[in-house]
Amino acid sequence: MDKLKQIEKLRDKALAELKRVDSLEAAAAWRSAYLGRKGALTQLLRGLGRVPATERPRLGQLGNELKVDLEEAYAEILPNLKQAALRRSLEMERVDVTLPGRPLGPGRLHLSTQILREIYAIFAQMGFQVEETPEVELDEYNFTLLNIPPYHPARDMWSSFYTTDNRVLLRTHTSPGQIRVMRRYAPEPIRVMLPGKCYRYEQVTARSEIQFHQVEGLAVGRQISMADLKGVLIEFARQMFGEETRVRFRASHFPFTEPSAEMDIECFLCGGQGCRVCKHTGWLEILGSGMVHPQVLTNGGYDPQIFSGFAFGMGPERIAMLKYRIDDIRYFFISDLRFLEQF
Ligand code: PHE
Repeated sequence: MDKLKQIEKLRDKALAELKRVDSLEAAAAWRSAYLGRKGALTQLLRGLGRVPATERPRLGQLGNELKVDLEEAYAEILPNLKQAALRRSLEMERVDVTLPGRPLGPGRLHLSTQILREIYAIFAQMGFQVEETPEVELDEYNFTLLNIPPYHPARDMWSSFYTTDNRVLLRTHTSPGQIRVMRRYAPEPIRVMLPGKCYRYEQVTARSEIQFHQVEGLAVGRQISMADLKGVLIEFARQMFGEETRVRFRASHFPFTEPSAEMDIECFLCGGQGCRVCKHTGWLEILGSGMVHPQVLTNGGYDPQIFSGFAFGMGPERIAMLKYRIDDIRYFFISDLRFLEQF
C-alpha cells in the first residue's frame, strides 16, 4: 500500500476510535497507541526513511499534519472526559449527611481512678490537698530518710525494683513523698494526700501485684495527736464503706511512725462472724498509719519539739476489692474490658 493511503487510513481509524473513547484511561491508551513512542503514527513516520527522496518531503509534511490533527482532536475531548471523571468520583464518594452516625462507646474511668477520686473527695472535706511526688525515687527518700537505714532488716518489707543506678528505684510506697512535701512546706503546717503508683519486686498473685496504687495521707502541725489520726480515719471508713462501719486500730510497726497502727474494718461479708474473706477473724485490714516519727519530722525540716503529725497509707485497689468483692488484684492491670466495663 502506498504511504499516502496509509496515512489517510490511519487518520480515519484513529479518529473513528477516538470517537468511542469514553474515559480518561481509554484516552491515555488511545494516545499511546497512535502518538506514543511505539505508536502507529510514530512508526509510520519512521518508515519514511525508505521512501524515494522525491516523495519524502510531501509525505513527511502530511504525516506531521496528521500528528498535529490527532493531538488537537485528543486535546479537544480531554476536558469533557475530565469533567465526567470528576462527576463520577464525586458521585461515588458522596457523603450522605442524613446517615445516622456510628456511636462511639463512651469511655470510662479506670476503677482505680474512680476509687482514688472517692478517696480525694472524702479527705478534701477534711482539708487534705492532693500533691504529686516522684514515682522514680531515690533510695534515700524511699528508705533512709524514713528511718530505714541501709542493711536494716525492715527493708525486707519492701522488695524493690532498682534501676542500673543502685541509688535510684521505683518507689515501693508513697511514704517517701512525706519527706518531699515536708521539705517543700516546712515550717508551715500541712495536710496532704499523696497518690500514685508503687512497685514491688514480688511474686504476682491474686493478692499482690508488682504495680499498684497507694494514697499517702500526712498532717503536720503544732497540736496534732493520735486522736486526730483516729478521728480522720474513722470518718474516712464511714464515708467509704457506710455509716455503720465498725473499725478497730491494731498496734503495728513501721520504722517511720511511732506509735504505729493498722486500721481494720469489720468484715461486711459476714458482719464480723468470720468467713473466708476475713480469714475467720471478722476484720479486714485496710491501711497502715501512725504518728510521724520524730526523726522523720526532723528529716523533713520540722522541729519535733514543736511539731507533731500523723500519716497513713492505703491501697485503692485493695479498697476496691473489698468494696466490690473482687477476688483477684490482677484484674486491675490486664486491661480486660469485660472486667473494666463493670465499673
Ligand atoms: N508505707 C506503708 C506501707 O506501704 C504504709 C504507711 C504509710 C504506714 C504511712 C504508716 C504511715 O506499708
